[in-house]
Order: sequence, then C-alpha cells, then structure tokens
Amino acid sequence: MEATAERTVEQKYSFDVVRWFTVMAVVYLVVGAAVGVYIAAELAWPFLNFDSPYISFGRLRPVHTNAVIFAFGGCTLMATAFYTVQRTCGVRLWSDKLAWFTFWGWNAVIVLAVVTLPLGLTQSKEYAELEWPIDILIAVVWLAFTINFIMTIANRKTSHIYVSNWFFLGMMVMIVYLHVVNSLSIPVGLFKSYSLFSGVQDAMIQWWWGHNAVGFYLTAGFLGIMYYFVPKQANRPIYSYRLSVIHFWALMFGYVWLGAHHLQYTALPDWTGSLGAAVSIAMIIPSWGGAVNGMMTLSGAWDKLRTDYVLRFLIIALAFYAMSTFEGPVMSLKTVNALSHYTDWTIGHVHSGALGWVAGISIGAIYHLMTRLWHTEMWSEKLVNVHFWTATIGTVIYVVAMWVSGIMQGLMWRAYDEYGTLAYTFVESVAAMHPYYAMRAVGGGIFLLGAIIMLFNILMTVRKSATEGSLRAARSAPIPAAA
Ligand code: HEM
Ligand code: HEM
Repeated sequence: MEATAERTVEQKYSFDVVRWFTVMAVVYLVVGAAVGVYIAAELAWPFLNFDSPYISFGRLRPVHTNAVIFAFGGCTLMATAFYTVQRTCGVRLWSDKLAWFTFWGWNAVIVLAVVTLPLGLTQSKEYAELEWPIDILIAVVWLAFTINFIMTIANRKTSHIYVSNWFFLGMMVMIVYLHVVNSLSIPVGLFKSYSLFSGVQDAMIQWWWGHNAVGFYLTAGFLGIMYYFVPKQANRPIYSYRLSVIHFWALMFGYVWLGAHHLQYTALPDWTGSLGAAVSIAMIIPSWGGAVNGMMTLSGAWDKLRTDYVLRFLIIALAFYAMSTFEGPVMSLKTVNALSHYTDWTIGHVHSGALGWVAGISIGAIYHLMTRLWHTEMWSEKLVNVHFWTATIGTVIYVVAMWVSGIMQGLMWRAYDEYGTLAYTFVESVAAMHPYYAMRAVGGGIFLLGAIIMLFNILMTVRKSATEGSLRAARSAPIPAAA
C-alpha cells in the first residue's frame, strides 16, 4: 500500500528538479564552508593570503558569503519550496520548463559570482556585491521562481494555502522588490556601475536590503522550511496553526522597519536608529512565539529526539533561532551597539543564526528529503549522527570564540588609563584576538568536516537508490486508476 502511494507521488509531481537542487545545496555547503574556514585561517595566520590579490581575505570574504547565503541557502530554499508547494497543494509544478530555467539560471549566477568576485569585480555593497549584468540575471531567475510558485498555488487542489507557502511567498515577493531597488545603478561598462543612490540614502537603502536579506531570506524563507519539515519529521501536526499565522504577519509587518539598527551613530537621523531598535525589540515576541510553536510540536513526543537525529537537527536549529532573535534585538539597542558594532560580536551573532539556525534547519530538511526523493533509507544513519555532533560542536566553538573576542575587542577599544588616553593601541587589540581566531578556524573546520561527511553520505544514498532500483521502480510503476 505504502509503495503504491510513493509511486503515485513520483509520477504525480515534478521531483527531478527538486533532486538536483537538493544535491547542489550540499555541494555548495561544502564549498562555502571550506572558503569560510580558509578566510577564518587567513585572519588567524595572515601569511595564507600569499600576497595574491585573488585569494586575499577581502576578495574571498564575499565569495564565502555569496556561496553560503545564495548558493547553499538559495538551492535549499528552491528545493524545499518546490517540494512543499507541490505536496501541500496536491499538484505538480505549474511549469517544469520554468523550474529548470530557475535551476540553470541560479547555478549560472553562482558560477559568475565565483569568477567575478576573486577578480575584484564588485559593487562593494554587502550581500549585493555582484555587478549589474549578474543583478539582472538574478532578478529574472528569482521572478521565474516566484511566478512558478504562485501559479502552482493558483492551480492547487486543496482549499487553503498551508502556512509554509505563505512564508515562502513573503520571501520571494520581498526579495525581488528589495533586490531590484537596492541594485539600481548606472553602468559605465560591462563590469562597472555606480549606485543610483548616494551618501546617506545609499547607506539606508543598502541596509534596508541588508537587514531584509536577513529577515525575509535567512529567516522567513527558512521558517517556511520549518513549518513543513518539523511536523513532517515529527509526524505530528504543528502545535498551533493560529500562532503560525500570527508569526507570519508579525514578521512581514515588523522586519521592513529594522534596517536602521545597522546604522546607529551614523549620519542618519537619530530617530531612524531609535525606530529600528524599538521595532527590533518588539520582534522578540513573534520570533519566540514561532520558535516555541516549532518546539512544542514535539509536545508529548520528546522521546523521539533520543533516536531521530534528523529531528534533532531541526529542533536544535529552533533553539539557535530563538537565541539569535533574542541577541539581535539586544544588539540593536544604542548602548549595546556602541560596544558590539565593528566587533566580532556581530560575527558571532551572524554565525549563531547562520550555522545554528539556517544551516541546521536546512540540513534537517535535506536529510528528510533524501529518503523521500530517492525512495530509500540513508546509506548510513551513523554518519547522520556523526554529522549532528560535528555541526553542533563546531558551531558552539565558533560562536563562543567570537562572543569572547568581540566583547574583549569592544572593551579594549573603549578602555582609558588614568590620564584619560586610550589604554590599548589598535594593534594590541588585534594581537589579543589571535587565540580566538585560531579557535574559530578550528570550530569552522569541525563544522566543515560534518558537511563533507554529509555530502559523502548523500552521494552514497543516491548510489544505493540506483543499485536497489528504488527510484527507477517508483518512476516506472503503472499509474493507479485513482491517481
Ligand atoms: C565552516 C563554517 C564557516 C566558517 C569557518 C565561516 C567563517 C567566516 C568568516 C571568517 C567570516 C568573516 C568575518 C569577518 O569579516 O570578520 C564570515 C562572514 C560571514 N559568514 Fe561565515 N563561516 C562559516 C559558515 C557560514 C554559513 C553556513 C553562513 C550562512 C548560512 C555564513 C554566513 C556568513 C555571513 C553572512 C558573513 C558576513 C558577516 C558580517 O558581515 O557581519 N557563514 N564567515
Ligand atoms: C529579531 C531578530 C533579529 C534582530 C532584531 C537582529 C539584529 C541585528 C543587529 C542589531 C545586528 C548588528 C548590526 C550592526 O551593529 O551593524 C545584526 C547583524 C546581523 N544579523 Fe541579526 N538580528 C536578528 C536575527 C538574525 C537572524 C535569525 C539571522 C540569521 C542568520 C541574523 C543575521 C545577521 C547578519 C548576517 C548580520 C550582519 C550584518 C552585517 O553587518 O553584515 N540576524 N542583527
């Protein structure tokens, strides 16, 4: 009976493109984390720059952020959004062709990023470094993704639209809009352009995009994943559907006001920073409501965590989500930001969100998808367990190192001696960071090891499915009359 249901699933939905996005997401996780470890090592041992501009920290840093956010994060979002929308709407994707265009277009963007950034071709805007021709390609591909998603929902067989799809849709619409506005520029050649905005307006537009890349892409999109994959993996309904809808609307209305908290103590009018901080603090409530909603889905079935490592990934990711959405609002306060801004505390906050939340929820969802998409068990459950521990330990080492070094940096920079002059030179603060930078590189290395183990396990699972013929069987089974 179960086998028949799965065969129907394989024939009813377009899963090939989901499979490709899933595998590529893991490939990019390994690449992005490897570059992350390399730049972390460059900060600890600067000789690793080897006096070459192409592999210098300044050029490799955006390769890292683009690889992890857009290549790994993007492929994960595309795989999970295309999967979830089909399963929850009971229909196949509106257009297979558009889905494949999205796949190839997105991968072309990634290849272009990997080529242009080390060459120093950049717009110098964080998370929006790529030059204008690539920006146009991003807009077209993202629009294709969005249209396909909306049309699939329009064709749905179910009466209502499941909350995950709302989160995915919120992310898609906002990212098209934010990306287009922030990227408006005047080209002066194929590889060079100047922003349409200048001075303080440019800064404000950039951080309106920058924070919403966090709010809508790294948060709302991955919450779409959470709301589908946590209940599925736990095999229980979401704790409170009503709370999930409140979570959705509160994030949509709240996040757009936060950008100015990145620009405290700048030329921006003071009240904008205060507004950013006030709304940031208010965001603790829906964020924690959402985190609790996800965790309480396990209420009465906590024992599952003892044996199910995929579920552990999903739940620990929620714990990191709760932690970073408490820490962020605290950092947005002017008095705290006066200490944290420019320091590694920000980097610690980023990676508790990025490694703990974004990577954690993605990894859990990808393991869940592997068994459904290839119709077989994982090649090695043991390696999933090993991955869970390497990812968790690596993340904790990374984040703790950055918290300590960040707060130390901030305190050293503002310490005065009895004559009222600075107690430490800047170079002394850099030297004091060395042990923590080494510790971060080690933590990152452990996380990377886990990602490599995951890639290996996933490729072996694909091979296992091919040897067993399980995917082939699911594809070629006769379609039951009822389907
Ligand atoms: C092995 C794992 C990783 C290591 C070792 C690593 C290392 C680093 C390093 C050294 C930086 C530059 C910090 C600085 O400028 O002082 C950085 C920046 C960044 N990384 Fe990672 N990273 C890893 C994984 C990730 C992942 C998985 C994500 C996202 C999903 C991510 C997102 C970011 C972001 C957004 C920044 C920019 C932060 C900012 O400008 O404040 N990283 N990373
Ligand atoms: C309510 C939730 C959150 C609030 C209010 C918030 C607030 C903040 C604040 C105040 C900063 C430092 C700004 C500065 O001093 O320049 C920051 C940086 C950052 N946060 Fe959050 N945060 C939240 C959640 C998250 C989550 C879940 C992630 C997921 C990855 C994340 C990713 C980042 C990144 C990437 C940066 C660095 C931006 C940059 O300077 O390049 N944040 N956040």
